[in-house]
Amino acid sequence: MLASPRLFYVLKFAGPALVLVWLIAYMISDQPAYDNVVRQFKNERDVFIADFLDYEVGGELDGSSISELCASKTWTPGLMLSCDPQSGGFGQVKDAHLNCIRFAIEAGAELVLPRIIKRDDKNIANTRPKNGGGPYIGEFIDYLFDFEYLNQTLSQHCPQLRLYRSMNELWDVPQVQSARKISLQDVGVKLNGSVIEDMNALPEQIKSYIDRTENPETRPFPIRFKSDIITSAFPTAYGNQELAKNFGRLLRPRKDARVLAGIALYNLHKKYHLNLDPKQGFQHSTFPGLHLRTEADAAPIFPPFDDQVASLLGFVTNTSTEFAFVATGETEEHRRAFAKKAEAVDVTLVFKQDLLLDEPEGRELLEQLTWDQRALVDYEIMLRAGLAVGLGESSFDWNIALRRRVVPGAEGEAHSPPTSSPIQYQDRYSILLGSSEKGNTLRATVWP
Ligand SMILES: *[C@@H]1O[C@H](CO)[C@@H](O)[C@H](O)[C@H]1NC(C)=O
Ligand SMILES: *[C@@H]1O[C@H](CO)[C@@H](O)[C@H](O)[C@H]1NC(C)=O
Ligand SMILES: *[C@@H]1O[C@H](CO)[C@@H](O)[C@H](O)[C@H]1NC(C)=O
Repeated sequence: MLASPRLFYVLKFAGPALVLVWLIAYMISDQPAYDNVVRQFKNERDVFIADFLDYEVGGELDGSSISELCASKTWTPGLMLSCDPQSGGFGQVKDAHLNCIRFAIEAGAELVLPRIIKRDDKNIANTRPKNGGGPYIGEFIDYLFDFEYLNQTLSQHCPQLRLYRSMNELWDVPQVQSARKISLQDVGVKLNGSVIEDMNALPEQIKSYIDRTENPETRPFPIRFKSDIITSAFPTAYGNQELAKNFGRLLRPRKDARVLAGIALYNLHKKYHLNLDPKQGFQHSTFPGLHLRTEADAAPIFPPFDDQVASLLGFVTNTSTEFAFVATGETEEHRRAFAKKAEAVDVTLVFKQDLLLDEPEGRELLEQLTWDQRALVDYEIMLRAGLAVGLGESSFDWNIALRRRVVPGAEGEAHSPPTSSPIQYQDRYSILLGSSEKGNTLRATVWP
């Protein structure tokens, strides 16, 4: 039994403890109240970045069209597909990887995710550095993309598709260590340029090629087929329009790059009093984002430096804009040269380095990233520009423009000064300059 002074002692502490327990229970049962209390303890910057990560441009991925697609296919147990690793930048690798995922779905096969060839960071024009003559192995998909998110989203919306992060997961399956070759050409797909003409025929064409090559009665189980890199092949206009909007969302940039973009955008917002709220998406009036694509690997596809600079400046000259964000992997020397030309028309150019290198966290995170990983930071910032100006030959820019096209209010034309360059695409939030055949193909095949 408790002695009475002891009882008094217990009650003295139990009372406040009970109140505290009740308060916590109340806050947890009332989630918004709880969130508000937690938010007050976080500083403004952390809240901004958390919101930036939570509220994606175009809203949350809606997987129902992916579920429908997967449910409509015939799945063959023990049939595996892998694809050669892709090199190059975000847009190029994203295209190849999505094509590989889509090819596996059309084939009704299990998928070994493709890997990514890392470019030579000391000579960025060298996208496929020599590796002693052997086949390219490459980095895990995590090198550019958020694997957890992809795996989680596919498990939820396409449970039929069995996914392997890499061949490492299959080390103990001898049958699949070597692979038979498969390609769109092999299966007899009719292409218009690189684009598949008849999507309806594709699943049957793949199946009949596979069964012709390896008799289903006698072939090893499991069996792996390996495809070349597939580029700009699947027409997004085919099938469900929701699929065109959501399929590309499977590949989201890796988290550290998104965090950095959140920090950079917060710093931009403070520096220029932008009144940005990542929960509200973006507004046309916020800031212009310009893509300068003149780095060492850009020629001969993209116009020369002086031409790009002149047309980009056309968008900010004689507007009320006092600054513009510039997405680029250019050298410091070229960034300065561009900034100087912009100063002559009273516009300050802001690069990601300006927003990140002055603070310890931003500097440390940015310096850890490779050149292609840094481009993901630009990508995430450009998604939130009031007006994004890019190039029709760039899959990076098509990813941005087509992703933003679904944001309410995008219909119509960009309110911008006329430019002498031809315009390949425009809506209220994005303009892509150019008039190339490549641009038309990208328009038809990029899953944003
Ligand atoms: C992918 O997700 C599934 C389902 O949630 C899980 O069982 C599996 O372990 C995940 N794979 C990896 C490599 O994390
Ligand atoms: C091939 O693609 C081009 C656009 O790139 C289009 O204009 C043309 O109609 C297509 N041809 C066929 C036969 O579909
Ligand atoms: C900007 O305005 C000045 C003065 O009004 C004019 O001389 C110049 O041509 C304009 N520049 C452009 C690119 O429109």
